Amino acid sequence: MITLAFDVYGTLIDTHGLLAELEELVGEKAPAFSHTWREKQLEYSFRKGLMRKYEPFSVCTRQALDFTCAVHDANLSLERKEHLLRRYRALPAFADVQECLSRLKSTCFRLFAFSNGEPEALEELLTNAGIRSLFQGVVSVNETRSFKPNPDVYSYFLDQTDSVAEDAWLISSNPFDVIGAVSAGMKSAWVRRSQAAVFDPWGIEPTLTVTSLAELYTKLLRE
Ligand code: 2OP
Repeated sequence: MITLAFDVYGTLIDTHGLLAELEELVGEKAPAFSHTWREKQLEYSFRKGLMRKYEPFSVCTRQALDFTCAVHDANLSLERKEHLLRRYRALPAFADVQECLSRLKSTCFRLFAFSNGEPEALEELLTNAGIRSLFQGVVSVNETRSFKPNPDVYSYFLDQTDSVAEDAWLISSNPFDVIGAVSAGMKSAWVRRSQAAVFDPWGIEPTLTVTSLAELYTKLLRE
């Protein structure tokens, strides 16, 4: 049976889903603020992983928020930052997620969520988005004390799900994650949610590229 590992932040869950709240706080800077926050969050995970100074992903998110406030000259109170971080644990799913996962589940694929996030944060996020029950399990990198795209975390996923790389797909909108999975021997679908998204020119290509999860369903059935 084929195992599907769904990346969470940016693939199933919209990391820019707090724009309305951000607009109230920082006005027209909201899109740039949201972008910096996400980019820094990922950068901090890469750096902490490389330095072998693991701290949970929620710490990366919190520190990235502090950095973003400083860069965009947004003097948010501690209370407001706490509020944003609470809302981050309830970000919305993209519109195509529920239907695609339900269809894949009923077509005999094994579905897992696989993320940098900590287990409790993932449970809360997926439950709140109404999609937790569609997964056989949730695999967090937390126990490896590292982050994607360290090859150890992809091996950890395979161990935890009793799967083998040849029969396992990573589904992600994050090119670094797709390249990490393919390098670790897995198959991978890149979900190119925006036409502006560019794949890294490293010579390591996704097994499939789709523009939405609806397209993923059709293409996976043909594989
Ligand atoms: C995730 O692991 C990479 O943020 C992405 O959910």
